[in-house]
Amino acid sequence: MFRPGNNLAGTPDPFGPPMPDYTDYTVSIHYDRRLYRHDIAGSIAHARMLARQEIIPTEDADQIIQGLKAVEQEIEDGSFPWDPSLEDLHMNIEHRLTEKIGPAGGRLHTGRSRNDQIALDMRLYTKQVIEETLGDLRGVQSSLVSLAEANRDVIMPGYTHLQRAQPVLFAHHLLAYFRMLQRDAGRFQDCYRRADVLPLGSGALAGVPYPTDREFLAKELGFSEISRNSMDAVSDRDFLLEYHAAASICMMHLSRLAEEIVIWSSREFGFVRLSPEFTTGSSIMPQKRNPDYAELARGKTGRVYGHLMALLTVLKGLPLTYNRDLQEDKEGFFDTVDTLLATLKVFQGMLGSLELDRERVTRLAGESQMLATDLADYLVAKKVPFREAHGIMRRICEHCEREGKELQALTMEEYHRFSPHFGQDVYQITAGSSVAARDNPGGTAPQQVAKELTEAKQLLEAGADGL
Ligand code: ARG
Repeated sequence: MFRPGNNLAGTPDPFGPPMPDYTDYTVSIHYDRRLYRHDIAGSIAHARMLARQEIIPTEDADQIIQGLKAVEQEIEDGSFPWDPSLEDLHMNIEHRLTEKIGPAGGRLHTGRSRNDQIALDMRLYTKQVIEETLGDLRGVQSSLVSLAEANRDVIMPGYTHLQRAQPVLFAHHLLAYFRMLQRDAGRFQDCYRRADVLPLGSGALAGVPYPTDREFLAKELGFSEISRNSMDAVSDRDFLLEYHAAASICMMHLSRLAEEIVIWSSREFGFVRLSPEFTTGSSIMPQKRNPDYAELARGKTGRVYGHLMALLTVLKGLPLTYNRDLQEDKEGFFDTVDTLLATLKVFQGMLGSLELDRERVTRLAGESQMLATDLADYLVAKKVPFREAHGIMRRICEHCEREGKELQALTMEEYHRFSPHFGQDVYQITAGSSVAARDNPGGTAPQQVAKELTEAKQLLEAGADGL
């Protein structure tokens, strides 16, 4: 027996699952109901405007508004009779409204289309989640600042190519992530400005033949401006793309930090310990404490990138104006929002409970030729050209490796074999003097990092007011 569609290759599969009912194909109620508050807020403002403009009778508008509030209450207490055969959120709410208040409910959709309605809902929702995102971003930034402050004098090995390179303050390393997240916040704020435009009043595509007051609607619903082209307004999803892009970059940053946490918490590095809350044991190897939260944050970054690509692809071939393809903007967007917000919350907790092995990172910061660049700079101070100093230090490091010695353990006699310019003061070079010397703005000297910490706290306070 062949049931078309149950197998892509077209091979009959009598044991396969029954073919899904294709009538479900257009239904979005199982995910767009997340927008019910925004949808109802939009409808209440619309009804108010219609009455003010004498497009519908005030008594009907009052009934509509009371009815919508009752519908919202039903949704909130779980008694709302969601009906998939009504396809989407808008039809479900309007249908229920009319059931409750009678024919007056039929006046709500005057001068409106589901096309400008859904564009409105998505913009209201996006503005709300951006505020939430900014709050959570600030939470992670505060955790970074607290962790940096609690370890403000700790020096650690800094890396390039994942090879030990030069000593840096642990706080400096953390504040690098503060700066990344600060740029992310800027991107979300930017996206907010583009989302903050009222599309309602665009109708299906061409505008509406009623004397509507769009400025009033914008004010009621908290928008800074109204859209200027109805055809653009019903089909524009740029604001979603921008959120996806900002979220992707932000997840990329969090993923890099996750990667550091995974590396740092390994036995090999042993820089940090994660609290048991943010690790899980292995089902077979009893000694293990796996950094699953950090790993999942790294792994979930992929789906956020994927949703950005998916929406770009949905949009690329659409002729003006509204096309049903646009309904595909939602599931990916909701997943991106959920993933990003959850990841930000995980980082807030994970960073808050991170324990640094100060003794170990401090010791490693001074070992393994970490100070080779400082010794080259020392020779430069004795008038040796930098290139030559670099060559001398390269040979000294090779010597250390052959002899299995640390730089600091070399005798003056050994130093002199490579250059006559070395003196006793070479032994005064330490990880501490190395970081202190990098005292230019943006450098890792304690003074500079202290300034950065102060600045970071000011930025957090300034941002606390919201948008
Ligand atoms: N569920 C639709 C969406 O998400 C709402 C708009 C439907 N408009 C229409 N003309 N079918 O885009």
